[in-house]
Amino acid sequence: MCGIVGYIGKRKAVPILIEGLNRLEYRGYDSAGLSVINKGKIKSFKSVGRVSELEKKIKDNLLGQIGIAHTRWATHGKPSQKNCHPHYSCEKDIHIVHNGIIENYDELKKQLIKKGHQFKSDTDSEVIAHLIEEFIKKATLKTAVVKAVKMLQGTYGVAVISKKEPHKIIVARNGSPLVIGVGKEEFIIASDVSAIVRYTDEVIYLNDGEIAEISEDNLEITNLKREIVNNPIKKLDWTIEKSQKGGFDHFMLKEIFEQPESIRNALRGRTEKFISEDFLPTLGGLESVTKKLRKIKKIIIISCGTSYYAGLIGEYMFEEYAGIPTEVEYASEFRYRKSVLDETTAVIAISQSGETADTLAAVREAKNKGALTLGIINVVGSTIARQTEAGTYTLSGPEIGVASTKAFTSQLSTLILWTLVLGRQRNMSFAMSKKIAQELNKIPTKVEKILKKSREIKKIVKKYITVKDFLYLGRKYNFPIALEGALKIKEISYIHAEGYPTGEMKHGPIALIDKDFPALFIVPQDSIYEKNLSGMQEIKARGGKIIALATEGDKKIINLADDVIYIPKTLEMLTPLISVIPLQLLAYYFGVMKGLDVDKPRNLAKSVTVE
Ligand code: F6R
Repeated sequence: MCGIVGYIGKRKAVPILIEGLNRLEYRGYDSAGLSVINKGKIKSFKSVGRVSELEKKIKDNLLGQIGIAHTRWATHGKPSQKNCHPHYSCEKDIHIVHNGIIENYDELKKQLIKKGHQFKSDTDSEVIAHLIEEFIKKATLKTAVVKAVKMLQGTYGVAVISKKEPHKIIVARNGSPLVIGVGKEEFIIASDVSAIVRYTDEVIYLNDGEIAEISEDNLEITNLKREIVNNPIKKLDWTIEKSQKGGFDHFMLKEIFEQPESIRNALRGRTEKFISEDFLPTLGGLESVTKKLRKIKKIIIISCGTSYYAGLIGEYMFEEYAGIPTEVEYASEFRYRKSVLDETTAVIAISQSGETADTLAAVREAKNKGALTLGIINVVGSTIARQTEAGTYTLSGPEIGVASTKAFTSQLSTLILWTLVLGRQRNMSFAMSKKIAQELNKIPTKVEKILKKSREIKKIVKKYITVKDFLYLGRKYNFPIALEGALKIKEISYIHAEGYPTGEMKHGPIALIDKDFPALFIVPQDSIYEKNLSGMQEIKARGGKIIALATEGDKKIINLADDVIYIPKTLEMLTPLISVIPLQLLAYYFGVMKGLDVDKPRNLAKSVTVE
């Protein structure tokens, strides 16, 4: 996904811009570029591929203390030098970088061409530079930018520099995140705090419809009506160390191994009340909506990808333990479908990034329809976190690997806590909430135990390395884990995999099974254990190979499975928190053994901020 960095201050801009782009690499991109102003002249460099390629093109002595830079993830126009940002006006005196999608760009482009503008790229973004060029004839840079963005339909996070006012950067936002890092006599602008943490821990978030005029020693934010707004300076608690690999080969592996800690963080200070308070305990972020929560009759969970699978597990928990009818919807479907909801419906958005365009749009749709909107979000201060009425931060820290791992287990931990809140408001006994919370506290230690099996898992991967397809099967709480396991192996190792509920296998997918099409069964000793065993028999009878995830001490399974990975016993509703770990490791080792870039799988982006 595209990334923006900008710098204005007393230092040389290029190293800071390049460092920022490197920090944003995790978002996924296909080309990179930057422009710097020095002594009233603008120089620009672009490159297809990695930021390191761009760096090679830039001369060592490129001076200038003001600049903008961008990593592009193609939406309009293929990855190429001409489509790479920054884009310029005809006179090349206005340079812009843009994140988002301009929906009316075609119409604007035609109007601008009629006025004599010449376009160099296939992008939607380039219209912004030409629009500013039109308006700047009779206005200041800021006024020209305001007039230009008012013409845009769609989403933008945009940063602009111009020869006409060479001591300024103008940034504007609508629907694409922008953060301004406040340093000592310098400002660092970025689409995401990862590019800022190295330089300062003080940031100002720009809201939709706001525009900032930034010079070396001044920052002024207004809305599009030019009224001054005073956005507070927020303190970041993400350090640079937290954003680095910490000795692991890949971010993904580091993040898988961080899970005992990230689950502890998600639970810290939150489980005790369910063990000790027998009168309606709640969570800090939900206090303001306690009364509303008591009245809700229906829950709709909206999310995408891995966060959607967390939602499916939430559905099982909310219905079984809180007795609240729950639906889970892909946010991309919810936003365009006619859902029936009102003020007795709680719509819960689950999102690691808090910036996923579909989820954000679904939240806005739910709000318009009068539902109570809640968030389970990782990135503090992100747009979805700010747009929902209440919620809980999952506190898993920055997740850099494109494939979600630790964010998922933190989402599950949070959903369990929410089940306890909602359950206790209804029919769940204090004894039950205590039992669940006590067992939940033991999960990090159980995860540590599974992580010690990574060598064993690596051996299994070696055995199956030539496999081209996989069927992932599970039931009840572990059906969504089958889906998540299949997604993970697809993303990371490009092996085709499908997730199914075990009972559904005989209605079609079983036709695929032969000796080259193995099945992975999640088969803990829970309430549907025996049913899962019958499914295994059916695969075995057709010559299919089986890898089983089974409960420690289960001897029966050895006769049915070719390979077994044992996981510790826990309560049925909590098993997803531990059964997902071996599946993450399997996907990781398949990817690594196939020599793939596991942290940045092809075609994927970390934060999907376009529709
Ligand atoms: C899969 C993955 C994606 C995200 C999805 C939603 O490994 O990472 O499927 O889960 O794009 O992202 P968030 O949670 O940021 O809304």
